Amino acid sequence: MNINKIAYSAFIAFVASLATLVSIQALSSSEREAADDDALDPITLDELAEHDGAASCWKAIHGRVYDITDYVPDHPTDEAVILEWCGRESTEGWDNKRPGVPHSPRAEGMLEAYLIGRLVDEEGESVEPEAATQAQEDDAEAGEADSDQARLSPAEDERLHRALLGLPLDGHYRGVFIDRGVIQVNITFDLEDGRFTELAYRHLAYRDDDYLAMEEDDELYPVMRQHRQILERLEGEPLTAIFALYEPERLAEDIDGYSGATLRGNKVHSAFRDALNRGVYSWP
Ligand code: HEM
Repeated sequence: MNINKIAYSAFIAFVASLATLVSIQALSSSEREAADDDALDPITLDELAEHDGAASCWKAIHGRVYDITDYVPDHPTDEAVILEWCGRESTEGWDNKRPGVPHSPRAEGMLEAYLIGRLVDEEGESVEPEAATQAQEDDAEAGEADSDQARLSPAEDERLHRALLGLPLDGHYRGVFIDRGVIQVNITFDLEDGRFTELAYRHLAYRDDDYLAMEEDDELYPVMRQHRQILERLEGEPLTAIFALYEPERLAEDIDGYSGATLRGNKVHSAFRDALNRGVYSWP
């Protein structure tokens, strides 16, 4: 046997023993994990489901249950992203923080601090993530989990609650003032956090006078300017500012021209109210 062959055989023997050591280590660590898991408190899906919000947020991930209530405010996303999974088998969310992208080893390391138990079925047996997800979906379908409500996204849920309370919804609005079958004012605006933005007239006319088409030298142009001022001054104001339109001098200058004119603050006010009564025209 020449020296090269000896060196080669020694190298192969070294690699083989290294591989054996690694696999023994892997085996014993997974066995250790299983033994550790047996020592963990058993937690059923029903118990898990009771901790489904910011006040107490438990999640089951790969068979273990974590109480991450204290971590929720520190998670690097909008709270809604992580709150959505509270009280649920969350392995899917954990393994796909974005589709196909699992959490980092650093995040994995953080989980340990929140470990409180292992997920079991009603007989006390450990449950696989897929089986747990299926059981929860079945429960929801059976109506046990108030399924229609549970399927609303947080944004839809907020809209529903605001609508039920009679509060204005943020969104894009359109409304009109019509007199004797003819549109005089057609207005459009957005509400953002209950305040006006993007205010504009889509139509502003009286009899044969189309105000939006007027030139500066037109006799009624000052009236048009006053109407523009109204919208400029309402920009960024809360919804309640439309009541100032009953006293248009609060929103537009040179109100003498206004009082003699054919367009009035209360028509604009009426168009705003019409828009609000119709509800959100489209979502931004
Ligand atoms: C199961 C529900 C969860 C979902 C859907 C979720 C989703 C996300 C998303 C969308 C990101 C940002 C995207 C990115 O980094 O590219 C993220 C990052 C992160 N999350 Fe979560 N998360 C969940 C649970 C958790 C839990 C329980 C922890 C820790 C206890 C955690 C720790 C982190 C950390 C440290 C990051 C920074 C990026 C990383 O290290 O992977 N997350 N998560």
